[in-house]
Amino acid sequence: MRILGIETTCDETAASVVGIGFDGRGEILSNEVLSQIAEHAAYGGVVPEIAARAHVEVIDRLVARALKNANCTVGDLDGIAAAAGPGLIGGVMIGLTTAKALSLVTRKPLMAVNHLEAHALTARLTDGIPFPYLLLLASGGHTQLVAVKGVGDYTRIGTTIDDAIGEAFDKVAKFLGLGYPGGPQVEREALKGNPERFNLPRPMLGRAEPNFSLSGLKTAVRLEAERIAPLTASDVADLCAGFQAAVVDVVVDRTRVALRGFRDIAGHPSALVVAGGVAANQALRGALQRLAVETGLKMVAPPLSLCGDNGAMIAWAGLERLRLGLVDDITAPARARWPLDSSRDEAGAKA
Ligand code: KG4
Ligand code: ZN
Repeated sequence: MRILGIETTCDETAASVVGIGFDGRGEILSNEVLSQIAEHAAYGGVVPEIAARAHVEVIDRLVARALKNANCTVGDLDGIAAAAGPGLIGGVMIGLTTAKALSLVTRKPLMAVNHLEAHALTARLTDGIPFPYLLLLASGGHTQLVAVKGVGDYTRIGTTIDDAIGEAFDKVAKFLGLGYPGGPQVEREALKGNPERFNLPRPMLGRAEPNFSLSGLKTAVRLEAERIAPLTASDVADLCAGFQAAVVDVVVDRTRVALRGFRDIAGHPSALVVAGGVAANQALRGALQRLAVETGLKMVAPPLSLCGDNGAMIAWAGLERLRLGLVDDITAPARARWPLDSSRDEAGAKA
């Protein structure tokens, strides 16, 4: 089976072909990602109109390159998947329309994939882990703890009531004068800093419901920065280290609480999985690894190339759906909002 996956929900244009090997394991045959970071950098964040235009300019070329590098033609594919949301609607429409056009012309099945589901299922592509598992999904737009029970079967255990974790990293980076996206910059600065110099809050620590709140922490960092301005390089490093340490403490505490609640919802988890752009953070990965050891679980984090947005995760989610006969037709809508757990809406988290 070979599936083309197209991703255009934010500031990455991506196309990939994923197949399935004889052992039943996923195989990434090509994985093309074109980041628009340079186009948005001057604005300190993603500008939707610029993103949509940049996607439309490169999508055809990128799909052609993904097919070529996978050594196949569109005729060799078994299906075509695109992220149909949640995300910036202009970008989503470009990827989804491209997939619909290819599907119509070739008469291959179309899978309109939820971008969050694709992040959620990546651990099955890379590590073949069975259901159910606890997922911490942390990106620029989402922060959720989810019981992943099957394809299309998700129960959200916790979420953020204000900023997403990646968003908090981006905002802290912005007011400290670091570039966009902020996560990698804050992590780099944090390596040089003293995490204990500032007394920063750990919002929600110890609460019974495994929810997050990042906005107060972000504000606390800003107030400290304003108090000691002008900032030296070591001030910036210490603020980054303190912020990152507070985030890690909160995430570990919230994940520990979610693991306790997991059993009532889905039984014994096969693993603790972290996904989304923030999963690239080494301090976070290390802390979750220690939590996994402490709770006797396997911890699975995608390789760095699959943490951020990519086409391989969309192709894999499409493959998982196609295997179950979950296909879509030409009327599949592009969605700005599309919660993973349809029984809940997204308290606070943006699409
Ligand atoms: O999943 P993703 O590529 O796009 C979304 O769907 O949002 O995640 C991007 C987010 C950004 O907020 C970025 O700052 C954050 O992930 N991020 C990180 C790191 N690398 C990326 N946050 C913390 N540490 C990192 N190393
Ligand atoms: Zn994402």
